[in-house]
Amino acid sequence: MGIAEELGLRVSPGLRVVALTGAGISLESGVPIFRGKGSMWEIPEARRLAERAGPPWNTRETWEYYEWRRGLVSRCKPNRAHYALAEMERYFEDFLLITQNVDGLHAKAGSRRLLELHGSMWRGRCIECGRVIDLPETPLKALPPLCPCGRPLRPDVVQFGEPIDPVVLDAAFKASKKAELFLVIGTSAVVHPAAQMPLIAIEGGARAVEINPNATPLTPFMSLSIRGRAAEVLPRLWEELLSSALG
Ligand code: APR
Repeated sequence: MGIAEELGLRVSPGLRVVALTGAGISLESGVPIFRGKGSMWEIPEARRLAERAGPPWNTRETWEYYEWRRGLVSRCKPNRAHYALAEMERYFEDFLLITQNVDGLHAKAGSRRLLELHGSMWRGRCIECGRVIDLPETPLKALPPLCPCGRPLRPDVVQFGEPIDPVVLDAAFKASKKAELFLVIGTSAVVHPAAQMPLIAIEGGARAVEINPNATPLTPFMSLSIRGRAAEVLPRLWEELLSSALG
């Protein structure tokens, strides 16, 4: 029996699909995760720089930390899991990708219907005038980079305890409520409000599938929890769903 049948899903372009991703989807691209094996904190330089970063987040020290991350990510490419999600977006008319990642790899892989819940390390934000500025090039010429208004920019990344853009959050909750299939890929599901979204989808009757080498707090609620690596499992899952649609 294929995955679609196992989930009791009739796969067609009209199926409403939402995917939530975390750092695990980018690990196979070479981007370290935040918790567990392969985490950024196993890298002494990352830890040293992270400890010097902090509010108001528009300081030289904060940018030294983010430039270290931007430098690393600039050498990383999207992997087969990122590309599978971009393909799904092109097939399903009502598809939304919600990511906690700030590495920009989903956009690089071609995803457009994308909500960056925690922002992006490739943008700066001015706490004075509110402008958001693209900063695609690393290394930056000067740290901290300056806003056209003259004030130092901060990374356009949501730090712990900071509010998520209400427009982004509202769109994410709305899509989760309507979803018929909700994919949870590469997240430890310990950070809210992201970790609530799969539960909201399940409450709304969605089938929920998790892809993670490890179990998470969401595992018991999933219709299907696949112990595996995103770059290997997700393309296969997508292939199975598509072949069940084509009949
Ligand atoms: N494929 C899929 N998942 C993987 C893989 C892989 N190859 N390797 C590891 N994982 C899983 C881990 O088992 C873990 O559950 O990826 C998850 C990574 O968890 P975290 O490092 O906690 O990352 P994430 O869930 O995205 O963290 C959420 O916390 O630090 C903040 O703002 C930061 O957005 C981040 C948020």
